[in-house]
Amino acid sequence: MMSINPFSILAETVSPLTIQIFVLAMIALIVVGTVIQMIHHKNITYFFNNAKKAKLAAERELGVVEKTSVILKTVVHDIATTAELGAGKRRVAHVLGMYGTILFWVASVMLVFCYTGAGKTVSTIWPMIWHVGAIMTCVGGYWFWLFLRVDVLAEAHPWYRIIKADLFVLALLACATTGLAWSYFQSAELMGLSYLFLILFVTSNIVLFGGVYWSKFAHMFYKPGAAIQKNLAEADGSRDNLPPLADAPKQFGLGIKREQPKHY
Ligand code: HEM
Repeated sequence: MMSINPFSILAETVSPLTIQIFVLAMIALIVVGTVIQMIHHKNITYFFNNAKKAKLAAERELGVVEKTSVILKTVVHDIATTAELGAGKRRVAHVLGMYGTILFWVASVMLVFCYTGAGKTVSTIWPMIWHVGAIMTCVGGYWFWLFLRVDVLAEAHPWYRIIKADLFVLALLACATTGLAWSYFQSAELMGLSYLFLILFVTSNIVLFGGVYWSKFAHMFYKPGAAIQKNLAEADGSRDNLPPLADAPKQFGLGIKREQPKHY
């Protein structure tokens, strides 16, 4: 199963062009959903106004080399390892899910456009990347959703309570889970079950990509932008219009030791 391209078997009944058009339609949905969300939530207006204010408050102007170095450091440290989530389980679960999803999506595009259809070569490595990506997404995603999500970990709600904010994580998990089940039943030659999970796989993809406007999907674009702006603001001294750190010992009183912070 791990080394079989499920899309090339599907191409025996559905034309490869139809599968490719479906992938392109999903990419178009991401762009449309994100742009409408940006217009509606005015994120870009806020972002640029903030950048303008920061420029005025800057204590010094950064050169190209310094700016590039801040951006590269942010990409390598803050973005690639989601440093914002601290050094705990939350970060491990997110990194697993994030890289799993990236592998799953990149491998899907490679399999559909380069290895599916008559006369195309067979790859064993890309199907493996696709399956490993889906498994990593499930491990990180279910771990987060069942045990680490704020509602469950800190607010003591039962794990099965579902709210609108869960749309992204649940649709993502549905894609990875039904994709794996589809591939499994296809390689086990249980065609009825394989078609059932194919329909569920297609539906979850439509929900995930069609729901970008309503879900947290676009955080994967906003968060890196915000991290870069924050680090540039620290380097040029504007500090996002916040006061400078006090040059004095921290004194929070004994109350702060009563309960360990959960850092969600
Ligand atoms: C392919 C890229 C990514 C995927 C698939 C992904 C996936 C997820 C998922 C499933 C959640 C849980 C959503 C929820 O609260 O229900 C989440 C939350 C979060 N993500 Fe991402 N993410 C990606 C990229 C990023 C990046 C680049 C950053 C930061 C630089 C980031 C920072 C966060 C933060 C801070 C949270 C909140 C976590 C919490 O509530 O504990 N993510 N992400």
